[in-house]
Amino acid sequence: MPTNESDTFDLDGETTVNRLGFGAMRLCGEGIVGPPDDEENARDVLRRAVDLGVDFVDTADSYGPGVSERLIGETLDPDEAVVATKAGLLRNRDGDWLPHGDPDYVRNQVLCSLDRLRTDTIDLYQFHRPDPDTDFEESVTTFAELKDDGLVRHVGLSNVSVDQLETARDHVEVATVQNNFNVGNREHDDVLAACEEYDIGFMPYFPLGAGDLGEKSAVVDVVADAHDVSRMQVALAWLLRHSDVTLPIPGTSSVDHLEENVAAASLDLTDEEYDRLSE
Ligand SMILES: NC(=O)c1ccc[n+]([C@@H]2O[C@H](COP(=O)([O-])OP(=O)(O)OC[C@H]3O[C@@H](n4cnc5c(N)ncnc54)[C@H](OP(=O)(O)O)[C@@H]3O)[C@@H](O)[C@H]2O)c1
Repeated sequence: MPTNESDTFDLDGETTVNRLGFGAMRLCGEGIVGPPDDEENARDVLRRAVDLGVDFVDTADSYGPGVSERLIGETLDPDEAVVATKAGLLRNRDGDWLPHGDPDYVRNQVLCSLDRLRTDTIDLYQFHRPDPDTDFEESVTTFAELKDDGLVRHVGLSNVSVDQLETARDHVEVATVQNNFNVGNREHDDVLAACEEYDIGFMPYFPLGAGDLGEKSAVVDVVADAHDVSRMQVALAWLLRHSDVTLPIPGTSSVDHLEENVAAASLDLTDEEYDRLSE
């Protein structure tokens, strides 16, 4: 049975992050397009996250697009947090997310991200989603080249299968994988298992199920009542306990919710509670 062996994860032998990170997608406007109504509040959330000890922040060029990265660059010094950004999705005013893994596009995007994040090297650069119109290996090779060129320290993948992870590993050292995963959605259990095998960080996105934990909601509520905590805290504590390689990145635009989520790192589930949540 898994237990929280460590509160930290070592990305490469010299970069260690607290496993409970922060997802900065929610700092944008409605539909994750454009700026938020209150940019000062967004900066407060980022500043408070770092003050609380969060040192791992997830974002993407497509959040805004550009807005989330810009706010991070304006608010945090590059040495305050490991920033994981992504490329590979186009946006439009309808809010669509359109896969685009064309090498020239990715090479253009990394320059934009470096500028917005106000850094010389991106800590972790993730391929956001395989593009059906571009050969997967061609996209991955581009990320590998950016690493070789020193523009990117680590390469990660997102929304991939085990097969795609294996293929990518033929071309580049993969530091992290980011897939949809939470207590109510274990569809990518096989990808998590592969990450455990290779000691790759697994960033479960929608760690709170974006507010909907599906069929698990009832049991999560029972456990939450027993500890007098919120269901979000139980969902995060379960993810941290479920595997030593999980790096949950809960997203919020609220300082209060952020404080609540960070406190989940100290919540210890009993073996029985963990089992009931895992059934
Ligand atoms: N790779 C991908 O394809 C992909 C896709 C989606 C997301 N992501 C990443 O994963 C991160 C997390 O995903 P997410 O933000 O979409 O979903 P999430 O973390 O599962 O849930 C965020 C939602 O829950 C609310 N929330 C957060 N904490 C709360 C609390 N303590 N109490 C009540 N409500 C709370 C937030 O609203 P409030 O703002 O009101 O708190 C927001 O609506 C994103 O920020 C992004 O970095 C990646």
